[in-house]
Amino acid sequence: MPVLVRPENMARITTPELARAYIEEQIADVRAQVGGNKVLLALSGGVDSSVVAALLIKAIGSQLTCVHVNHGLLRKGEPEQVIEVFRNQMNANLIYVDAVDRFLDKLAGVSDPETKRKIIGNEFIEVFAEEARKLSDVKFLAQGTIWPDILESEKGIKAHHNAGGLPEDLKFELVEPVRILFKDEVRMVGKELGLPDNMVYRQPFPGPGLGVRVPGAITRDRLEAVRESDAILREEFAKNGLEGKVWQYFTIVPDFKSTGIRDGKRTFEWAVVIRAVNTRDAMTATVEPIPFELMQHLTERITHEVAGVNRVLYDYTPKPSATIEWE
Ligand code: XMP
Repeated sequence: MPVLVRPENMARITTPELARAYIEEQIADVRAQVGGNKVLLALSGGVDSSVVAALLIKAIGSQLTCVHVNHGLLRKGEPEQVIEVFRNQMNANLIYVDAVDRFLDKLAGVSDPETKRKIIGNEFIEVFAEEARKLSDVKFLAQGTIWPDILESEKGIKAHHNAGGLPEDLKFELVEPVRILFKDEVRMVGKELGLPDNMVYRQPFPGPGLGVRVPGAITRDRLEAVRESDAILREEFAKNGLEGKVWQYFTIVPDFKSTGIRDGKRTFEWAVVIRAVNTRDAMTATVEPIPFELMQHLTERITHEVAGVNRVLYDYTPKPSATIEWE
């Protein structure tokens, strides 16, 4: 039987040796739990689901089927990395679902933030359920639940339902091999399983993805501007030693245009807002003082490389009064 509660005397996994021991233990537990049955996993490419995938590939190989849903709100290069790491390098059974048009069509014209979140969440479950129904004899659903998720749902802070909301006809037994781990331990285990650093140590990324960084009704041009400017910001932060130092950093493209000038001609285009914050628990946050020269360089690159953008701004607001995301 899998261990559901973190034992009080369990040592924090802080070394490769402890991570290896945990992996061996989980491989045995998972094999005992699932036997010869098939297991399904929604693989977003986030830390938790990626570590679960790598662990299960090691434990049960082709009995695992991973489903990666591209909802069009992922960062630049993410779907490609999921395919490269899991299908090409780890030889996983990976179903890639291109649901970009489906999500963006559903979201067209929807400007209320909570409605946008609901549509993204519901549509995700629907796409995943459709894929699950196409497979036969799946008995188990793997999830990247981690120990803080359990603690928070016990305290009533966060209703944690990774699997929540799956339709009645899809009844699975859960496989949760990182359930009793803290986030730093999940990373340690992921590193030991051979996942790339940019997957294991990545910054938090919200479930609704870039959707919350295109405030108001999502349009494809603003979504592309967010994706491209975010890629430039991440590249420059990595080059300038800020990756791994700043807790979360990203760009936003609000739904207003302003006047500019390019090649002697008047433009009327979007503005990119840069946000970079530090926090311990995301309840409050302070703003990272990005060096002015780097801001100038970012502005230069974004206004030249990102289509439809003529202005770059920096968000100096801590949390509170602002939240970290813009919606
Ligand atoms: P806020 O904007 O509330 O963000 O200050 C705090 C942290 O939570 C992340 N965040 C989300 N994560 N689904 C998620 O999985 C969401 O709907 C969501 N909204 C915010 C945010 O990125 C930050 O790390």
